[in-house]
Order: sequence, then structure tokens, then C-alpha cells
Amino acid sequence: MELKETFLWGGSLSANQVEGCWDSDGKGPAIMDYITSGSYQKAREITDKIDQDQYYPSHTGIDFYHRYQEDIKLFSELGFKALRISIDWSRIFPMGDEDKPNSKGLEYYHRVIDTLLAYHIEPIVTLYHYEMPINIVKKYHSWMNRQTIDLYLHFCKAVMNSLKGKVKYWVTFNEMNHIDPQTENSDLFTYMITGIKYSSLENPKQILATMSYHMILASVKAVALAHEIDEKNQVGCVFGLTPVYPRNCNPINVMNAFREMEKDYYQIDAMANGQFPDYKIAEYQKTGIQLDITESDRQAFMIGKLDFIGINYYMSSVAKYEGDDKQEEAFFGGVQNPYLKTSDWGWAIDGIGLRYILNYTYHKYGIPIMITENGLGAVDVRDANGNIEDDYRISYLEEHIREMKKAIVEDHVDCIGYLTWAPIDLVSLTTGEMKKRYGFIYVDKYDDGSGDLSRHKKKSFYWFQDIIKENAKQL
Ligand code: BG6
Repeated sequence: MELKETFLWGGSLSANQVEGCWDSDGKGPAIMDYITSGSYQKAREITDKIDQDQYYPSHTGIDFYHRYQEDIKLFSELGFKALRISIDWSRIFPMGDEDKPNSKGLEYYHRVIDTLLAYHIEPIVTLYHYEMPINIVKKYHSWMNRQTIDLYLHFCKAVMNSLKGKVKYWVTFNEMNHIDPQTENSDLFTYMITGIKYSSLENPKQILATMSYHMILASVKAVALAHEIDEKNQVGCVFGLTPVYPRNCNPINVMNAFREMEKDYYQIDAMANGQFPDYKIAEYQKTGIQLDITESDRQAFMIGKLDFIGINYYMSSVAKYEGDDKQEEAFFGGVQNPYLKTSDWGWAIDGIGLRYILNYTYHKYGIPIMITENGLGAVDVRDANGNIEDDYRISYLEEHIREMKKAIVEDHVDCIGYLTWAPIDLVSLTTGEMKKRYGFIYVDKYDDGSGDLSRHKKKSFYWFQDIIKENAKQL
């Protein structure tokens, strides 16, 4: 048995990492427009105001805003069946609380989507890849406030109505599961997801639980809304999932690893099972956290169940274990796995982890899964002839696609698509670097903002083109 002919091969992008033109055509300032560039060693800085002397990567991105036609043409040459983009909330509602959408913002996304459709590429639209207007953070306190749910739904409604008939696949949120900081002294993830720094929270456990609950509720309501607007709409939510392995067979460590891994699933349970999970409410009660769950919320959970689950997969991890303090810390907490190699940025490379997480998640919910991100961030060097021989990327992707195929063909996981992150070099989310490249297409842009932005095909471009053409029969 092979993959279905309808399998969605493609790639994923987010507005804030590619578009640039951060204040063009009526766009308002958004969360990511306030984060400077960092590096592997130096964290990105979150500024309160735009400082003219600082470099903010989202302000220029890779200029997709002007170059989308050229880029989509290249994606079509790759043979893409689908492209996941995000719609920047702050282009449509610059302050977030206007009645009427900014028509120039909508027109831009119509142009992008029309171009995709002209090339027979299925658009998959994420409605929240951290592009919340900063005004919502300042005036409404972001997701702490229930009113933000209505503002988000107002945005979703405007976009879904406008693109009705053109877009069928919607994603309500990208990786809300990382709302908790990875390490106590890091503000980055909580800020990217909510616009609020973790270190500024007085009662972080309560506030993070409330914000997460409001986002989950916003997601289930957006699912119901999408179905109401067009019954053909298929709506998913994307989670960044990481298998967490125990260090050894000591039951304490196995239990720790299980808990660590399960902590990412309560949001999916709430969105896929028709109710906010009782075990989470009990856990909150034990630690004094209160959630205000109304009768109308309960109804919303019942009618807003997900049609599919999006999985962003990059790495696996090993849970911290008893008596361990010497181990080098891995990216998402935990410790490094001695059996695995890591990327230049320390992320463990583990193709089998993808098969594991696909099976694990599918067995829990039994609804279709889409791999919405997978890829290798690496330093690419152009040789004297301008070529980029990125064999390391080919081998990463080959290993992961092979394991995905086993999950689908041998294990019968209903996985409907594989989208790479990212088909073209773009700004790294966690470091803001251009040096951390993921693409099949090289972009001539560097960490100080220099470069002529020209696009160049890497060796992996031709390799992936062949994989799609053969529907991965060669693996
Ligand atoms: C995912 C995000 O978590 O990881 C992307 O959805 C991000 O936006 C990707 O770019 C890779 O992370 P990074 O930091 O290497 O860009």
C-alpha cells in the first residue's frame, strides 16, 4: 500500500516570519513586531516601544508581501499540493477592536490565495500564528480577558466570510500549548503566544491557566463558526508535540516522562472530546487555580469539535529524572538523548519520534492528522558556484518521511498531509535569525538585515520535487 493520491504535500509559513511590510497598507503593530533579533546564544529582546536603533526581523521578513507571486511559482514547481499561510490579524483589524475590516489587508490575502488556487495549491489558513494587534494586549490584557474571545471571533468571521469558497482548511491557533515558558527565566514563548511577558505576571499559574482556557474556548467557538459559515470548512488546531522518553525503566522516571508528555494534551482533549477535561479541573483545584466555566461554554465545547489535528514535529526529548543535575538541558526542558544526534541548534533529530507521536495522537482521538510543520534549521553555505548542497536537510527529511509513511501504511494512522517548515528560508521564531535556514529555497538575506532578497534553489529543492512527483514511493 502506498500514500493516497490526494495526500497533501506542501509547506508552511507564518505571516510574521515572511511578509515584512509591517506597517504597510493600514497594518497595525502586532506582538511579533516588538521582538528584536537574537541568536542561539543571545535571547531575542522584547521591547515596549519600537526603537529605531534596533533591528526587528518581522518588519522586513523575506518580503513575501511583494514577492509572493515569485515564491508561489517556485512552490508550484516543487509540485506542492498545499501551502499553509497565516493571516495576520493586525492587517485585517489594525487595532483589533474596529467594526469594519481593513479592505487593503483582505485584498492582499485574496491576491495570495488566488495565486495559490491558480497553481492548484490548496490554501491552509492559520488564524493565529502570534499576530495579535498589540492594542488588544494593552487595552484588553490579551487572553486574560474574555472579551478577547469576541474580538478574535469577529476577526475570524470577517476572514471566513470574505474567503468563503476559496479556503476550505482552517487552523484556529498555532502551538498554544507552549504558553508555559520552557524555563522559568524565559519570557519568549508566553510573550509570543499572548503578548505578555511571563516575568510580569503576579500569579503566573492562575493567569496562564485562564489565558489558555480562553484560547481553547476561542478555538472551539471558531470551529463552530467556520462550520456555520460553510459546512465544507475543515477546521483544525495546530500543536507543537514532542514525544517525551523516560531516561530508563525506573517507574518513577517512566511516570515523569508520561506526565511531561501528557501536559500538552489537555488542550487537545478539550477541543476534540466535547468537554474541558475533568482531570485538569481537579488538578487546578488542588493548586488553588479557579476557572470560570459557564453553561454556555459547556455547549460551545460540545459543538466546536475539531475536524483534524495539526502536528508540528521537530524533535523528541527525555524527561528530567531523579538525581540528575549534570545533564545538559535540551531545548524543551528535559535532557539530551545520548542515542540521537542534534541539529546545529541542539534539537534532537528523531524520525521514529514522528511515527510514535502520530500513533499516540491518532489512537487518542481517531480523527485525521495533518503534519503541519517538520524540518531542519541549519546553516547553509553557498559554494563558489553559488550552489547549496544541503544533504543534511535531505537526510533529515528522508528519515522523517520514511517514518511517517510507516505510520500511515503499516500502522493505519489517518495522516492527510505533510507540510515542511519551511519551504523557503525565513526569520527563525525562537532566535530571529536568518542564519537558521529551513528552506528548499535560499533567500539572500542575513542577520544584520543585509542581502538582495534573491531566491536560489538548493539541492533539496530537486530532491523534494522528486519525492512529491513519486508520492514518496522511493522511500
Ligand atoms: C514552530 C513554529 O514551533 O517552530 C514556527 O510554529 C517556527 O513558527 C518553527 O518557526 C521553528 O522554530 P525556529 O525557532 O527554528 O524558527
